Amino acid sequence: MPPLRIVQVSDTHLSQSHAYFQDNWNAFLDCMAEEKPDFVFVTGDMCMNGPKVPGDLPFARAQMDRLPVPWRAIPGNHDIGDTPPDTRLKGPITRSRRAAYRKAFGDDFWVQDLGDWRFIGLNAQLMDSGLPGETAQMEMVTDALGTAAARQCAILIHKPLYNKLATERGQSLQALWPKSRKRLLALCEKHKVKLVASGHRHCYRSLRHGGTRLVWAPASSFIDTRKSNEGRRLTRRVGYIRYTLVGTTVTHELVEPPLFVNNDMRNWMAAHGSTTKLPPRPLKR
Ligand SMILES: [Fe+2]
Ligand SMILES: [Fe+2]
Repeated sequence: MPPLRIVQVSDTHLSQSHAYFQDNWNAFLDCMAEEKPDFVFVTGDMCMNGPKVPGDLPFARAQMDRLPVPWRAIPGNHDIGDTPPDTRLKGPITRSRRAAYRKAFGDDFWVQDLGDWRFIGLNAQLMDSGLPGETAQMEMVTDALGTAAARQCAILIHKPLYNKLATERGQSLQALWPKSRKRLLALCEKHKVKLVASGHRHCYRSLRHGGTRLVWAPASSFIDTRKSNEGRRLTRRVGYIRYTLVGTTVTHELVEPPLFVNNDMRNWMAAHGSTTKLPPRPLKR
């Protein structure tokens, strides 16, 4: 089997009406036309404000369709709403927001087999939501891992499994909540999952949990340098992740394309707290 060349891009935050981060996306498309990976996984927050701006989901979908290689996406909180009650942006995932996402992008959790590998995409915001679909998603991941046979498994999910420690408590919107985290970590251990690839945090980090590599992909859109680098464990720059999968091993590198601009939203975030409150900046045709 030849090596499998996978790219993970995350947190593109695209919008027709609020086109602050379109330039890095255009640069990313040029990168993909040049390097032509076997597959691109987009790990959520394709939209600037999908839950509240009706045009964002179809616009983001049309932008993904510009990719010159096969791709698949999972939802982030800026696409489908956050875990209820969404104490931060007050736009929780609901049945109708989930339906709107699925209309634009298809299934919000899925299995994609490529070569000797099985990739399982999950909807992080559905976990601990109490919505119909939460149980079905957990059954799907359990079944997909249980039937992988000789395939190596990787999980793609918008939010990281935890912030600092697998044992941390509380319901941080930055990572999975304890109940779902515990179940996923147990499945990772039982089925020897090789990789859990996430986005959401707008920074790059790589760590191990038992036999599983945890990769936090950077955003392609923006950073917020008000936040700590946690003793240099984190890299706060825009970019994407390039994976090479050979046999049972996965290696990766952080890619920082020359044409990516490190949009630092620290001033706006300090003043207004969220990029969903940015004033309109329509895409020039
Ligand atoms: Fe994001
Ligand atoms: Fe996010």
